[in-house]
Amino acid sequence: MGTSRGKVPLSIITIIICTFTFVALLISFSSSNIFRFKSCPRRDSGDRNVDYEEDDGFEFDPDECSLSHGKWVFNRSIKPLYSDRSCPFLDRQFSCVKNGRPDSDYRHWEWQPDDCALPRFDPKKALRKLKGKRLMFVGDSLQRGQWQSFVCLVDSVIPKGKKSMKRGRVHTVFKAKEYDATIEFYWAPFLVESNTDLKVIADSKKRILKVDSVAKHAKHWIGVDFLVFNTYVWWMSGLKLKSMWGSFANGEEGYEELDTHVSYRIGLKTWANWVDSNINPKKTRVFFTTMSPLHHRSADWGNQNGTKCFNETQPILKRQYWGSGSNKQMMSVVASVVRRMKVPVTLINITQLSEYRVDGHTSIYTELGGKLLTEKEKADPLHYADCVHWCLPGVPDTWNRILYAHLLF
Ligand SMILES: *[C@@H]1O[C@H](CO)[C@@H](O)[C@H](O)[C@H]1NC(C)=O
Ligand SMILES: *[C@@H]1O[C@H](CO)[C@@H](O)[C@H](O)[C@H]1NC(C)=O
Ligand SMILES: *[C@@H]1O[C@H](CO)[C@@H](O)[C@H](O)[C@H]1NC(C)=O
Ligand SMILES: *[C@@H]1O[C@H](CO)[C@@H](O)[C@H](O)[C@H]1NC(C)=O
Repeated sequence: MGTSRGKVPLSIITIIICTFTFVALLISFSSSNIFRFKSCPRRDSGDRNVDYEEDDGFEFDPDECSLSHGKWVFNRSIKPLYSDRSCPFLDRQFSCVKNGRPDSDYRHWEWQPDDCALPRFDPKKALRKLKGKRLMFVGDSLQRGQWQSFVCLVDSVIPKGKKSMKRGRVHTVFKAKEYDATIEFYWAPFLVESNTDLKVIADSKKRILKVDSVAKHAKHWIGVDFLVFNTYVWWMSGLKLKSMWGSFANGEEGYEELDTHVSYRIGLKTWANWVDSNINPKKTRVFFTTMSPLHHRSADWGNQNGTKCFNETQPILKRQYWGSGSNKQMMSVVASVVRRMKVPVTLINITQLSEYRVDGHTSIYTELGGKLLTEKEKADPLHYADCVHWCLPGVPDTWNRILYAHLLF
């Protein structure tokens, strides 16, 4: 991680590499539309002020509502449904308040799409929807953040003794007993197999992806009612990725170095083929969370003197802001793979709305290798601020609000 900001193109590369190393270090193992609308949807703009708690007839039509066009609105009277003290299931990594973050505004912003109203997350309704069912998040540590957010969002309405958490290295299961519902996380940072799945290899040059193999992970996804996938940041380790396919008789030497987006396309295609041949869309709904932006270049958002996302306390207000931490080419790979699938996949497109939230990252209020950052590390945000992961409560709660809207409406 010993980089300083240098000339622009090189610095982008080093930042990407830097980020990757960071993610690796931070990862710990401790731990055709498928929506059925009512026949007569009403969408007059008057709906905006309806009280959704009472109104089950409220219609959220994801086809009509572009979540990318909207704004964050500050409202101090909005209280998160949980805190990092009230929710016992939050990893220290995301527990910013506990870890000493002094400002609190970041917890009071609400995403408002321009063309529709996003329903509030109602934990009881979410649990009723999950009754007798399994919801599983599959992917990397950002996905684990989204999973923890979901668990904490519903946790407050489940009495003590009526829930359990069974943690595994790869597969973790939260259970709401009265509802016979599970909210699970499955660790597969590339979705496809790699030599760095179980024991993270810090040196990204030694990582090898088996871009045509997914079965070892995917057998654990069978029978799940709601599957939510993601994969992005682990692919961004540099310009090329060691990828291999076919039989592995050559051992790990049989790889080919492929451009990131080429490797990503093959990997996603492998995943897509598995979904298409193993998932019955009448039984299982499939979601894909788009890339979560990295905020490593404060110059992107006009803070020339800033250090990554360190000390940012306000979202970016410039409309359609898009920084260098979200790769459009990678996004277009996702779009083109998903478009050609037989099984409908709902995209939870969080990228644009998260782009604005430079203030939402864990920054220096996090841990590294299982230990809280020391004062000395905190004083060196260039190397230690985490501008990849998000504080909880925080931005991933909004991702789940979108997921919730898709699940319920
Ligand atoms: C702020 O949030 C509260 C509680 O949800 C709501 O009643 C109020 O109308 C909101 N205020 C604004 C200005 O949106
Ligand atoms: C950035 O720092 C330089 C030198 O310390 C200072 O002159 C300049 O005013 C600062 N710019 C902003 C936008 O704060
Ligand atoms: C962080 O921001 C605050 C207020 O904007 C400022 O007073 C403080 O000096 C900044 N801290 C660092 C280390 O730059
Ligand atoms: C997600 O939304 C952005 C705009 O905010 C768009 O550019 C992108 O194509 C969308 N991603 C997918 C996979 O559709």
